[in-house]
Amino acid sequence: MFKSFFPPPSGKIALNPSILSADFSCLKRSLKNALKADWLHVDIMDGHFVDNLSFGPHILRCVKKITSKPVDVHLMVENPVKFVVPFAKAGADLITVHVESKEPSKSIKLIKELNVKAGITLRPQTHAKKIFPFLEIVNLVLVMSVNPGFGGQEFIASSLEKIRLVRKEINRLGKKIWIQVDGGITPKNVAKLVDAGADCLVMGNSFFNSRKQKEIIAMFRNLRAHFI
Ligand code: DX5
Ligand code: ZN
Repeated sequence: MFKSFFPPPSGKIALNPSILSADFSCLKRSLKNALKADWLHVDIMDGHFVDNLSFGPHILRCVKKITSKPVDVHLMVENPVKFVVPFAKAGADLITVHVESKEPSKSIKLIKELNVKAGITLRPQTHAKKIFPFLEIVNLVLVMSVNPGFGGQEFIASSLEKIRLVRKEINRLGKKIWIQVDGGITPKNVAKLVDAGADCLVMGNSFFNSRKQKEIIAMFRNLRAHFI
């Protein structure tokens, strides 16, 4: 599994359906098509870092029982250090922390000690430069293209420039680091995001509320990635 997950395979764009928009009254059924995508994205919210609550590690354990695909955990929490161990134990393949949270470096160090891949992310208002020092230690940069906290929001157009800046810096350093984008992604803006340098795209609302989930998955097979 990790052979194709890390290092990022060249020429492949990954689709990461976000289970935040799944139907939890019939989770397994709701994930049927999503499990045929590349990874699953799990959003963790603590009601402090963002104005919403989502899930604990138990949901991740349940999801891991029904898939062998990589699952990435996006921690939207004030104090990620507290949550790294429980989510690593529950089976996270990659854990992403916010640069605006408490002790992001300590969290990333802990994630890596636990043999889990690590990501760094930033709010739309935070300048891309804030995450540059982390490029030495992470496997993924997540560019948030909505304000974190809720699914179904509109894509913030200035995120495209941020993706370009991050892509330029990753290429300058010659690193193999995924650029993931999260928030307001629909089949209509996918091409622009890939063109700007993204190589894995999170889709919540526009995937789970679509009757064309299989077509969306097929569309990703024809997209080309930017790995160096
Ligand atoms: C928002 C979450 C996203 C969310 C994206 O804070 O981080 O992962 O599920 O949902 P959509 O695709 O609906 O914007
Ligand atoms: Zn997310």
